[in-house]
Amino acid sequence: MARFNRILLTGAAGALGTMLRNELPRLCDKLRISDREDMDNPTATEEAIQCDLADREAAAALTRDVDMIVHMGGIALEDNFDKILHSNMLGFYNLFEQARKNGVKRIVWGSSNHAIGFYPRTQTIDASATPKPDTLYGVSKVFGEGLAQFYFDKFGMETVSIRIGSCFPEPLDRRMLGTWLSYWDLTQIVEKALRAPKTGHLIIYGASDNDEKLWDNRMASSIGYQPKDNAEIFREKVEAVTPLPDRDDPTFMYHGGGYARGDHFKGDD
Ligand SMILES: NC(=O)c1ccc[n+]([C@@H]2O[C@H](COP(=O)([O-])OP(=O)(O)OC[C@H]3O[C@@H](n4cnc5c(N)ncnc54)[C@H](O)[C@@H]3O)[C@@H](O)[C@H]2O)c1
Repeated sequence: MARFNRILLTGAAGALGTMLRNELPRLCDKLRISDREDMDNPTATEEAIQCDLADREAAAALTRDVDMIVHMGGIALEDNFDKILHSNMLGFYNLFEQARKNGVKRIVWGSSNHAIGFYPRTQTIDASATPKPDTLYGVSKVFGEGLAQFYFDKFGMETVSIRIGSCFPEPLDRRMLGTWLSYWDLTQIVEKALRAPKTGHLIIYGASDNDEKLWDNRMASSIGYQPKDNAEIFREKVEAVTPLPDRDDPTFMYHGGGYARGDHFKGDD
């Protein structure tokens, strides 16, 4: 199978970036890893560049001579608007614009279920559902998906937006029995998203083959994603340590769980 010359991985010091650092070298001759934080012990096939994506010149250098980008860098939780703006909007824009100028073919990135978090759990939705973000964080993911669509329609630069559910080694609470994405399945999605001959701008859900399903993920089959794992094997363990939520608790009512209940984030003024 064809190998890429160089893949750029952002967010390489984060949870998912650290995991993908072990997997992406199979696909490329050089893995450029980047984060604004220190990255542990770069290997001989890695090129480490520490920078803030909100720095436009740094983003220009970062995206040079790169075939594909796996973008996991950004604020991964609800936060105040200034921080969201800095990393998930300005940083995201810089990455896309500089990638376009440098002729990058495709970006595969971590969007989030919080882009659609205000749908009730009684409703199964697919990737064409109108966004209903549950937080400023979710709003930034909708911005990212919008920018990705624009960059494909206007410039032909391709993107796969993965609306990740909950990507952890194993589900940590009852909600995650429906939203869990195993590390193995995330790796599969990323690899297939990079290797697919054509994607345009594709939105898919990042979820494993869980018995509890919130999302109709048919669009993911267009890149050949066939989830292998199922959160159900952890049910007994999860139920033993997490109480049954109240039926009126947003954790139980909405796709976005507790994010739909959280207070509006303050602190930016
Ligand atoms: N882990 C999950 O379950 C999950 C679920 C939904 C979406 N996602 C998305 O996937 C991506 C990766 O998630 P994660 O769990 O690894 O998050 P993480 O917080 O562990 O890692 C994110 C990394 O991005 C870096 N970063 C933040 N702002 C930056 C900037 N301006 N410039 C350069 N680097 C910056 C941080 O230093 C951090 O190392 C995030 O975009 C997150 O929103 C993750």
